[in-house]
Amino acid sequence: MSEMKKPVYKPNREFAASARIKNMCEYETLQAWATEDYEGFWGHFAKEKITWQTPFDTVMDESDFPFVKWFGGGRLNVSVQCIDRHLQTRKNKAAIIFEGDRGDKQTITYMELHNSVNRFANMLKNEFGVRKGDRVVIYMPMIPEAAYAMLACARLGAIHSIVFGGFSAEALRDRIADAQAKVVITADGAYRKNKPYMLKPVVDKALEGDTPVEKVCVVERNGEEIVWVEGRDVSYSDLIVKQSIHCEPEIMESEDPLFLLYTSGSTGKPKGVQHNSAGYILWAQMTMEWVFDVKESDIYWCTADVGWITGHTYIVYGPLAMGATTVMFEGVPTYPDAGRPWKMVEEYRINQFYTAPTAIRVLHKMGNDEPKKYDLSSLKVLGTVGEPIDPPAWKWYYEDVGNSKCAIVDTYWQTETGGHIVSPLPGATPIKPGCATFPLPGIMAEILDPKTGEKVEAGEGGYMCVTRPWPAMIRGVWGDEERFKKSYFGDVKKEGRAVYFTGDGAVYDEDGYITITGRTDDVINVSGHRMGTAEVEAAINKHEGVAEVAVVGKPHDLKGEGIFSYVIMKNDTVTGRNMELTKEINNIIKQEIGNIALCDDIVFVPGLPKTRSGKIMRRILRAIAKGEAITQDISTLEDPSVVEKIQNAVNT
Ligand code: WT7
Repeated sequence: MSEMKKPVYKPNREFAASARIKNMCEYETLQAWATEDYEGFWGHFAKEKITWQTPFDTVMDESDFPFVKWFGGGRLNVSVQCIDRHLQTRKNKAAIIFEGDRGDKQTITYMELHNSVNRFANMLKNEFGVRKGDRVVIYMPMIPEAAYAMLACARLGAIHSIVFGGFSAEALRDRIADAQAKVVITADGAYRKNKPYMLKPVVDKALEGDTPVEKVCVVERNGEEIVWVEGRDVSYSDLIVKQSIHCEPEIMESEDPLFLLYTSGSTGKPKGVQHNSAGYILWAQMTMEWVFDVKESDIYWCTADVGWITGHTYIVYGPLAMGATTVMFEGVPTYPDAGRPWKMVEEYRINQFYTAPTAIRVLHKMGNDEPKKYDLSSLKVLGTVGEPIDPPAWKWYYEDVGNSKCAIVDTYWQTETGGHIVSPLPGATPIKPGCATFPLPGIMAEILDPKTGEKVEAGEGGYMCVTRPWPAMIRGVWGDEERFKKSYFGDVKKEGRAVYFTGDGAVYDEDGYITITGRTDDVINVSGHRMGTAEVEAAINKHEGVAEVAVVGKPHDLKGEGIFSYVIMKNDTVTGRNMELTKEINNIIKQEIGNIALCDDIVFVPGLPKTRSGKIMRRILRAIAKGEAITQDISTLEDPSVVEKIQNAVNT
């Protein structure tokens, strides 16, 4: 890896000259400002970037750390920040460009976005009784109405909780129950690879039995037949036409919640990560401007789904807050062929393109020569997110897609950080393949030694931490203060004070560049999505024949990591692989979580490597899955002979 990292790509001069942060000297000046006068720095940008209803009077209050408050006394509405304030100068500018799976297109101007969001908000308010603080679950495909729904919630001060459309009815039910949502917004279904798929039946199943949900609003996208539950389900198209385009925005306090987004942790059920209004929208906009350097007439495309944080911050909130044009794509990048994204880049003259390494690997593998077939000269910035990008994928992205001219921004962040925290600045930061480079201005990100709390030396691995609260930091785990403190502020202390720990390991190189090395906990990164081993284990345990299970990640060529499970059956005569049982177990996972959590490999074993205190040594299981020799001391295991038995089962 370090060999591949040697080349330093100098940013394109012409491009750098007009960038918002032009060079490392400007970067360092900003970072020095933040270091010396943290509140002055953030106060300055909050004043400059946010259209306040009432100005704030304090910048940061950390007296109740880790519960931190930003911009106290300030009042605003995030939908105004994303829409209304642009109407004077940009009402005819495209806010959203939508392209459907089958190539259908729609351009939505800021004026039209305003009208649609206001109608949507009026519908939520007048027809469903949604009020400030209510939770609304959004279970939607990638269509403009998903963005309208988010912004309509923001307009009313309701808290949205988007559940990715790939999650199962069980997963949806859990999230609805945890958030106690009163309304679900969904669609009949949508299209994928020119075929309709369904969402509404999943909602129906999730709402069976006791549910806090009173109303389900259904956007008709694919027109397939669905069941309508009398009194509960309503058609969006019927109601929306009756609504006025005027809906007064609810004026919110800076720290009023904006949304929840459930994400996997190393233990237990997914947690509802809470983001609040002012700090989140400020950082969404600032990072959008700094990291993608989107200019007034640029067209920006992020290929994520709104079901993940990337879709929240970098398809909807960030681009709209800065008044940019954001592309929303319903389809999959390899359909009808692996040239689809490049065809779209050519057609819309996309200037910034943002995707995940897993997508780059698939596009590379399936369509090495596709980029050459299109005019990609409009591209200036190419972004990646979700996992470390491997050098071959980086090289192809840089050379074949970017024509060795674009800045690659390897953006490191998480659901909890709200926006990027470590990333190159395009045109300013000399880039190295596979390197997220430096903390963004204002972010006090450091790699610390978990034992001493000191910054680690170059080449020594440590824990990726943020030592001061920042505006877009997670504000809480919904309904669970203890879990919030324990999950993020329990592991590392710097100078005796708890700091935010990301859960990732990282390392500095000799030039101070940061490389993220991956999770230090039991979280697997499958195609850039986080999956908790505990969640997958809980699903597998529902199989009545299963006695015990341990799940680990195993490197996978395309997905980054695949899910590898070791299962002990109650009837322990089964060892090695078993097609039928594997199918049964994967079916349960599909029902409990969704297709994204299916196991790539399940091995039936007679035992698990446990310490005498009963702790499963996952490190050994990871090594066996990879086919590596076991280097750690196994003499402390309760039964050292189990290692060889497991190896035999894997190799049969
Ligand atoms: C985890 C966060 C942030 C949006 C997508 C995923 C990994 C994210 C990078 C990167 C190396 C990365 C980390 C992180 N990760 N970006 N550029 N390089 N690793 O959001 O589901 O909250 O997952 O993704 O492990 O903790 P998420």
